[in-house]
Amino acid sequence: MGPGAPSEVWRYRAELLKGPKNTVSENPDSYLGPTIRLRRGQTVKIHIHNELPEDTTVHWHGLHVPSDVDGQPRLPIRPGETMTVGFEVLDRAGLFWYHSHAHGKQGGRVGFQSYAGLAGLLIVEDEEEADLKLPSGDNELLLVLQDRTFAGNNELVYLGRGMGSMMDRMHGFLGDRVLANGAPPTTRKVATRPYRIRVLDGSNARIYKLAWSDGRPVTVIGADGGLLQEPEDRPYAVLAPAQRLDIWGDLSEFQPGDTLELISDRFRAGMMSGGMMDGMGMMGSNALPLGSRFPLARLEVSKSLKASEPLPAQLGVQRQKIPVNSNTRIRSFELSPVMMRGFAMNGRRFDGTNVADDEKVRLGDTEIWEFHNSTPMPHPMHIHGLQFNVVGRRGGNSDSLQQGLVDSGWHDTVLVMPRETVQVAMKFERFDGLYIYHCHNMEHEDAGMMRYFQVQS
Ligand code: C2O
Ligand code: CU
Repeated sequence: MGPGAPSEVWRYRAELLKGPKNTVSENPDSYLGPTIRLRRGQTVKIHIHNELPEDTTVHWHGLHVPSDVDGQPRLPIRPGETMTVGFEVLDRAGLFWYHSHAHGKQGGRVGFQSYAGLAGLLIVEDEEEADLKLPSGDNELLLVLQDRTFAGNNELVYLGRGMGSMMDRMHGFLGDRVLANGAPPTTRKVATRPYRIRVLDGSNARIYKLAWSDGRPVTVIGADGGLLQEPEDRPYAVLAPAQRLDIWGDLSEFQPGDTLELISDRFRAGMMSGGMMDGMGMMGSNALPLGSRFPLARLEVSKSLKASEPLPAQLGVQRQKIPVNSNTRIRSFELSPVMMRGFAMNGRRFDGTNVADDEKVRLGDTEIWEFHNSTPMPHPMHIHGLQFNVVGRRGGNSDSLQQGLVDSGWHDTVLVMPRETVQVAMKFERFDGLYIYHCHNMEHEDAGMMRYFQVQS
């Protein structure tokens, strides 16, 4: 990064053996893995060869895949080994991603390996979405947000030392600069037309507050599991680690020469977690504090077009809600701090593939899972192998970014703010076996805020 020596990274490289050419597009200027495009209904086979000096796995974040191809820590790929996984693409169109999910004897390696570069985008396309003719090709912007710290010799710096390292582990790693697609945010020449901006928070721990520099509302059209039923305008949109947002950015009223920035805005002062972490972040390291304001992408209008595509009023034709009622089983999870060792869920931490009785569910069942956060920090909770609906939130702090939390549509990761209780509804469809649920703050996850659950047939 920057002038001087290149930074050493770990990265995914791909070679397409069979299939349409656009399945794999490399990101030559970035450490990010190639962007993979799949069609719903297609079957894929992927050979994963590990040339790293340690165990790794590849997890298809958000995809509904069988347990044994999910890239779980129980199925590591040893150095020098190749693993072949195959699955049918069952999910509707959406932006997904893949990353390491390795867990060693000393703890998780997800934070380190993803930080070193082991992450990439995976896009699922289908006819339902194609029929909407949303902006595509050059009019679709993919944005992977990640924060990094570089040493003077350009090497990546992960957890700090001493006190700093303790802080980094407790809050999750925060870098001192934010990268978009593995590079400093750039200026992009655009025309007076709408753009589809698809954003992944691929950071270890940073939460973004997406907003436009001129204060215009953010029009959200999709989330983790694809398009929303209809567009939603928000003053800003919150994006937590592992989450995705699909944004309609309309520049049709602009003039050539105008610019618009997509930024991450400041969190309101006094917000419990933000305020607290801002202070501690500065104490621990020079990390860019959580809740600072900084640019993510700059759009510069260079061309004026006469016609412009309208935003479709209806986006999703698929069922958008899992039916729940007063008989739906509710399973509660208490997120609580463990002295000096991170966080626990119902008092438990990662324990290999051990599953407690209350972590067993039945194939075909619909359940509500309720996460109650009794810690002073936000936790983005992720459940493997499915997409869920957010049923509701209670508690929490009125200041805690509520206006920007996009809860409609389908999700695989939900942000649970301090003191808040969040309910999500899901159906365990199609596959039985072991799956994982965890906090996607990678340092929390690596420190044991992760458990297996079992889907029993
Ligand atoms: Cu993004 Cu358990 O994963
Ligand atoms: Cu967490």
